[in-house]
Amino acid sequence: MKENIFINKAQMTPDQQRLLKILEEESEKLSALRQHMALNLKKIKNYLPVGNGIDTMYGKLEEAIWYKYGSSKTPEDQLMELLDFRILDLQDLDPQKKKAEITAAIIMVKQLAINFAKLYALGAHHTNHKGQSEALKYYRAEIIDFKEAEKKIAELDAEIKKNRTSKDSTYIPNDELSESEAIAAREGYDKKYKVLEKEYQEFGKSDPGAYLAICLKQIKESKEVFDKNGNIVETPFVKENLRFLKDLFRLGRATLIRGELGTGKTELAKHFIRQYLQPGNEEVLEVHGLRTLEKEDVTTRQGIRQAPKELPEKQTEIVTEAWKNYEQTVLKEQLEKIESPEEKKAFIEDEKKIFRQLYLEKFKTGVETFEELSPIYRAMKEGRPVLIDEMNAIPHYLQPVLKSIVDKNTGESITTPGGGKFTVKQGFWVVATWDLKPKDGSLHAEKELIDPGFLSRFALMYYDYLPMNLPAKEPDDIEERRKFRQGNELFRMLVIRMLNEKLGAYMPEKALDDLERLAQCARIIQDVFKGEEKVSQRLYRNTYGVEVDPRQILEENVLSLRYLIPIVENWKKDGFCRPLDDYIFLHYVSRSKSRPEEMHLLYYILQIIGDFFKGEWLGAHNTKIMDDLLRYNIIRKMYGVDKLNGHEKPIPDESVELTKKYFTRKEIAERLFGNLPEKTRFRKDIFSASQNEEQKMLARKQKKVAE
Ligand SMILES: Nc1ncnc2c1ncn2[C@@H]1O[C@H](COP(=O)(O)OP(=O)(O)OP(=O)(O)O)[C@@H](O)[C@H]1O
Ligand SMILES: [Mg+2]
Repeated sequence: MKENIFINKAQMTPDQQRLLKILEEESEKLSALRQHMALNLKKIKNYLPVGNGIDTMYGKLEEAIWYKYGSSKTPEDQLMELLDFRILDLQDLDPQKKKAEITAAIIMVKQLAINFAKLYALGAHHTNHKGQSEALKYYRAEIIDFKEAEKKIAELDAEIKKNRTSKDSTYIPNDELSESEAIAAREGYDKKYKVLEKEYQEFGKSDPGAYLAICLKQIKESKEVFDKNGNIVETPFVKENLRFLKDLFRLGRATLIRGELGTGKTELAKHFIRQYLQPGNEEVLEVHGLRTLEKEDVTTRQGIRQAPKELPEKQTEIVTEAWKNYEQTVLKEQLEKIESPEEKKAFIEDEKKIFRQLYLEKFKTGVETFEELSPIYRAMKEGRPVLIDEMNAIPHYLQPVLKSIVDKNTGESITTPGGGKFTVKQGFWVVATWDLKPKDGSLHAEKELIDPGFLSRFALMYYDYLPMNLPAKEPDDIEERRKFRQGNELFRMLVIRMLNEKLGAYMPEKALDDLERLAQCARIIQDVFKGEEKVSQRLYRNTYGVEVDPRQILEENVLSLRYLIPIVENWKKDGFCRPLDDYIFLHYVSRSKSRPEEMHLLYYILQIIGDFFKGEWLGAHNTKIMDDLLRYNIIRKMYGVDKLNGHEKPIPDESVELTKKYFTRKEIAERLFGNLPEKTRFRKDIFSASQNEEQKMLARKQKKVAE
């Protein structure tokens, strides 16, 4: 019965196959339009009076287009009428802000109207009427297929998780489960896992909806973590390193994360602490390595603070109590050293006097001293992880102090320098980062600086830059190509930062290519910085045309995430209205002005290998290039002053503006994970339309081809 509603591609008539091809194309356009419109509608909602349903608005707009020839009002007019309410609402707003809001709303309305017109051209506009267009019907069938696949993937996923939890529970000693039974149970779970995993993978490879669901799940998870904390995307490489950290934490091993400049060491450690060790608590206990650090910064220091004002009777009570304590501890010890009873008595009287005086003073000034714990001591006391960031910069003489701290086990008792006492609580853990080539360049030789005895306390972990393939032809084989694309994690991270909540993006046509080339160049520059042997020495010619080993020239400005993120974020913030090249120059290349040779090298790599800085930009071989690079005023080219509010605003580049398009989540997924498997099974009812409509579609298509 169920099979009846499907038809295989092989069974279709040639006419049906032709129609199918058109439907696939139109439906893809349709989904881009719909996703884009849904986003704009949501934004416009902010400009509408409360309670004015978005449906009304959508309906009005649709109506206006539908009755385009009969109505005197354009869709924009219709929308503006609705917006008028809101504008009334805005009466109290400062006039400039009001104007800016209205302008923003109008731009969005125009965008929406254009998209509606496109929808009209596709014959897929009339959502509420019976006469649905073919493309719309196909599009809906696609969604149903996708939702079904997504559901199955989620089910399989849940089962895999359940299996894992059951397996984990066999590790806990249990009256009903003997050791040998536990082992047998685990084997059973492993077997089941293999079966489930295989089913999951195979379903993913056989069904386009399932493959898409798997990709989107990963994109979404990465994006969510990033949206929540704002600073890290969990790519597979990041996840693998998080797992490694988790193992070291479980073993109670203090951990040292070593790596090059800007690989993401600090964020990895912080993210791990926030996300896995203290969920819900954003504060990370942290000591930052500085060469001026003192012993007090890693242990405790005396502080003064305002003491609470006490009532007189309470004051007496406090003094009596404190005296009693003192008598039983310090005083008792001291009295033991005194022989004669008279001397003892006199000593006590004296002490009492001083004691009272001190307290009186304290009550009068309201100031008391206290011992302030460093983050490391707090971590021991509270049973929490602590990060020692850039430990390479911590002065040599503090290493013995840190060494003794790293050695502390749960339950060990600690006496602070000020005499305080506590025991190390469960959960205390030290994680540190180490820059292999620190910014100031003065602490290069790791071996020389660090005491081997100290280093041996730590489990070492090397954290590299995110994986990224160097420029190469993509493999033809579909499986190989998927692997290749999934290996481009740096590219993936940059793309994920561009996505909207529907996991799509409205960008220039070439945006994804641009980002991929940027990521490739970044990896080349990173390899040069690391001093990789594989970097070709013939990569670079200096301004005299001489081949020079780039590793000799690149000193500081490695193209790490620290630069990549501002480049892409600002590009996005300016609405992609200018070429990416401008942002690369502004936020990266120009930063090397104080080292012109380095600046030329970076420009060279980006131009010759990355294909950036073409057209009006000067060639890297040009004799005038160095002068040009040093003098170039990129800001002036990119930004002007907004007459409306006096703020700086980007000057749109027209050639870029004309090429913008909406990337659907499917397009994004294919670009990041490789092509979806081909669809072979279709719902029959996509062909149920009358001959008449089919002909209309074919005619429309032919007309377009003719144009
Ligand atoms: N996986 C990631 N996804 C997204 N952004 C990341 C990721 N890892 C790091 N970043 C970003 O890269 C930048 C640099 O990271 P971080 O400061 O952790 O590097 P670092 O290795 O500690 O650098 P340094 O060597 O200078 O101390 C930060 O802005 C961070 O948010
Ligand atoms: Mg760091």
